[in-house]
Amino acid sequence: MDQIGSALEETERLSRIVENLLTIARLDAGEARMEKVHVDLGELAAETTEQMKLLAEEKSLSMRCYARPGVYVEGDRSRLRQVMVNLLDNALKYTPGGGEIEMRVRVDEHRAILEVADTGAGIPAEALPHVFERFYRADKARSRESGGAGLGLAIAKAICIAHDAEIKIASSEGQGSRFIVELPLSNAEPGEPLTPQPTGTAASVKRD
Ligand SMILES: Nc1ncnc2c1ncn2[C@@H]1O[C@H](COP(=O)(O)OP(=O)(O)O)[C@@H](O)[C@H]1O
Ligand SMILES: [Mg+2]
Repeated sequence: MDQIGSALEETERLSRIVENLLTIARLDAGEARMEKVHVDLGELAAETTEQMKLLAEEKSLSMRCYARPGVYVEGDRSRLRQVMVNLLDNALKYTPGGGEIEMRVRVDEHRAILEVADTGAGIPAEALPHVFERFYRADKARSRESGGAGLGLAIAKAICIAHDAEIKIASSEGQGSRFIVELPLSNAEPGEPLTPQPTGTAASVKRD
């Protein structure tokens, strides 16, 4: 029975990998279905942190979010949430108990800045240029038991590119990590449609 169980687990793991690879390939090819709506990045960050807090508590990690609502970007809400989840998931995995994880959203000139910082293992300098590559994992021995296939950051990066966003890291080994995502701020007013509405719609007819 155990063998069947572990074969099933392995099958699930492999199909997750295949699914993730397909997601990256579609994003890279510009074929992924992407919404383009106003997204309140601050609100999304607070919501996502709240949802993942339980996982932090289980590991005796503190997880806080400093994000003011009303920082608007244009994009796909669930994909942007995926970026946050992948970054928080790493912070959870690579920070030992007792550590701290912080999510921040702020505005810097004409960009929205999303940051996920942790007080964890950090990333060695020689690994930094590679962590966004598919299947790359900095310290194989350290991270084997914590699962993951090395695709989380490749997905995050592909989503960032699709949003004209940049993703950067400030990290040194043993000192924790800070992932920084810079997105263009939305210049439309919240509530204003992003694409011109067709004329002659029911709404405009009703006006008279
Ligand atoms: N917050 C972090 N702290 C330390 N190392 C990290 C962090 N985030 C990512 N890394 C390193 O980058 C590698 C790639 O991350 P990712 O693509 O999410 O793959 P995975 O989490 O499945 O290993 C990780 O294996 C780890 O070595
Ligand atoms: Mg990961």
